[in-house]
Amino acid sequence: MIRNIQDEILKLKKEKDICILAHSYQGAEILEVADFTGDSYQLSLMAEKTDASVVIMCGVRFMAETVKILSPQKKVILANPYAGCPMAEQMDKEIIENFKKENPDHAVVAYINTTASLKTVCDVCVTSASAVNVVKNMNKKNILFIPDCNLGSFVAKQVPDKNIKLMQGGCPYHSKVTEQEALKAKELHPDALFLVHPECVPAVTEKADFVGSTSAIMKFAKESDKKEFIIGTEISIVEHMQYMCPDKKFYPLSNNLICSDMKCTTLMDVYNCVLGNGGEEIILSEETIVKARNCIDKMIKLG
Ligand code: 13P
Ligand code: SF4
Repeated sequence: MIRNIQDEILKLKKEKDICILAHSYQGAEILEVADFTGDSYQLSLMAEKTDASVVIMCGVRFMAETVKILSPQKKVILANPYAGCPMAEQMDKEIIENFKKENPDHAVVAYINTTASLKTVCDVCVTSASAVNVVKNMNKKNILFIPDCNLGSFVAKQVPDKNIKLMQGGCPYHSKVTEQEALKAKELHPDALFLVHPECVPAVTEKADFVGSTSAIMKFAKESDKKEFIIGTEISIVEHMQYMCPDKKFYPLSNNLICSDMKCTTLMDVYNCVLGNGGEEIILSEETIVKARNCIDKMIKLG
């Protein structure tokens, strides 16, 4: 049954000039029908490269908005309209506008997990993969990093010559993992390398053997000579890595590290989108696209 639906999707997307992008947190049945898979940085680069006239995003809303900002001429569909990122909704434009008025010597760096509207008042975007390089390469010394204070404090440690202010925001799933869970996982798997996403709290990332974005974690585990790994990010990565590297062992840092927004997209959602009657088309005003694009273009240039 799954195979039949996948075959239909593959046939229809070819006929209709559709490109399917899927974040690595999606289930295997969706990744298998995608043209490109990856973390949010890789997907934002792919969004620009594809010449398909329609793009279906299997991920969360800010990712679909990023595609629309980079390719306004394309029809961009979010496969499941309920897939939002709670972190992206944590901060209002007005807070940043006021901050900038009061602190004109600061640049505002926004994690890509923000709304298109918020990006219009920020100076540059980052993803977890590009954040350190982007911040290193900025001319301004004073920076406000929003909304993820965990990623922000990780960047601040890597780039000590910048003066980085943080605000209280973050991923409700990654940031809930506790130091105790990290210690427990390390105790249960003493031979495993501990790989952690920078959205986790400092008490967890400080115990890691490697801290990196989703794709960096996957690459590290694939290329490592070691045989066991504790995966400190969304639980689907454990399954994907186990499938990719059957000779190695992968353990979840926490069984609660499940992003319900990333998980709400189903294969049937994708099927309905390719049929032409599912998902939600992303519509953004020209002004939003132009202003938000400035922020994303700068990331691509500096990262
Ligand atoms: P990356 O895709 O940049 O690793 O970030 C993970 C994430 O939480 C996506 O929202
Ligand atoms: Fe947002 Fe966290 Fe889900 Fe990523 S894992 S989409 S940051 S809620």
